[in-house]
Amino acid sequence: MDYFNYKNGVLYCEGVKVEEIARKASTPVYIYSARTFTRHFLQIKESFGSVPSTVCYSLKANSNHDIIKRLNKFGAGFDIVSGGELFRALKAGAPANRIVYAGVGKTDDEIEYAIKNKILCFNSESEEEVENIERIARKLKKTAQICLRVNPDVDPHTHVYITTGKKENKFGIDLIRAEQLAIRMKSYRFARLKGLHMHIGSQILEVAPYVEALGKVVGLLDKLRAMGHQMELLNIGGGFGIFYKEKTARPVEEFATALMPMLKKSNCHILLEPGRFIIGNAGILVTKVLYTKQSGDGRVFVICDAGMNTLIRPTLYGAFHRIWPARDAAKINGEAPAEPPEGRALLTADIVGPICESGDFFAKERKMPAVKRGDLLVVFSAGAYGYSMSSNYNSQPRPAETVVDNKKFRITARREKYNDITKLSS
Ligand SMILES: Cc1ncc(COP(=O)(O)O)c(C=O)c1O
Repeated sequence: MDYFNYKNGVLYCEGVKVEEIARKASTPVYIYSARTFTRHFLQIKESFGSVPSTVCYSLKANSNHDIIKRLNKFGAGFDIVSGGELFRALKAGAPANRIVYAGVGKTDDEIEYAIKNKILCFNSESEEEVENIERIARKLKKTAQICLRVNPDVDPHTHVYITTGKKENKFGIDLIRAEQLAIRMKSYRFARLKGLHMHIGSQILEVAPYVEALGKVVGLLDKLRAMGHQMELLNIGGGFGIFYKEKTARPVEEFATALMPMLKKSNCHILLEPGRFIIGNAGILVTKVLYTKQSGDGRVFVICDAGMNTLIRPTLYGAFHRIWPARDAAKINGEAPAEPPEGRALLTADIVGPICESGDFFAKERKMPAVKRGDLLVVFSAGAYGYSMSSNYNSQPRPAETVVDNKKFRITARREKYNDITKLSS
């Protein structure tokens, strides 16, 4: 569900024409709909509202300052994986006691920074990390709350690069080692075991793996309580899938209903860490067609001013994004189609960027209305892992980001200038 709709062939984000934003902010540009991401956040919050819970928006999906500020006003917590994300969250006014910190490679400086700022908890991913937190907390004479990230060895049936809860993945601690670590932590005075964490992957479209994983984690929770640990927090991660091509995403209520009996029984404060579900369908990338051309074998290329440097998901995961012109001559209404409507005269083209890599593409052999130099193309469902994974490869400036709220929009991050690219060089 989103608020990007064609009216008479012209694409609007909420009440604003996408073309108007592209004119003001130049292209490429990311456009986020505040109404959409707020709605998605509230959907999750309400679905899990029958247990004490905090929805910690996962900053890695999109750490735009304005988005953090807006979600904070609705009571969001924040899931971070680096000192940089902690800095961003605090700068946007997020209360430290709603921040949870995961990631397999936290440095000493990052741990110290987080302890000094009194974050809610670390989601710790190894024995050595917990030992290190104990050492740093002792040095600072402060306590640090720990949730152990458990690797439940469950296959979430998603892309292999975003599968995180199978035993061969680098994430978390297996159940047996977690139990052994909990025994050791009985003697720790500064790193306090407060709960368990799991995150089995991203773009999960089935409820069953989630249920299986939580079953294993809750079983461990009981054992750790029996050891005398005060287990107060249970973090079930993020990963809820969204609509890219097929409308196969499960309503988040289905996850909530299936998990609820175990969550209630856990007697814990429940934490969630969704990123993609909140912001994925709430963002689009608008890019201008620079050229069209034909290759020696007759293949048509549509060359855009955005590429893998702006949105890497197609290159990295072979991800499908709906792509459609911002102005459609056939005056379509409603949502952008994943497959072209019957009977339209269409072009079959590879939609590519300016980067010097053959892997620089948004789509291959895609059927779409004929486009020409200067037309605007829209890449849909680009709000998550879009800008946050963008780079300056080929010394391309990063695009602007804008947020639309009803009939108004604001440039919340300006497009980089050449000076921004060289500012750290001496
Ligand atoms: C620990 C952790 N939590 C939450 C998320 C957010 O996942 P998603 O954006 O799929 O909800 C991720 C993403 O990989 C993650 O690694």
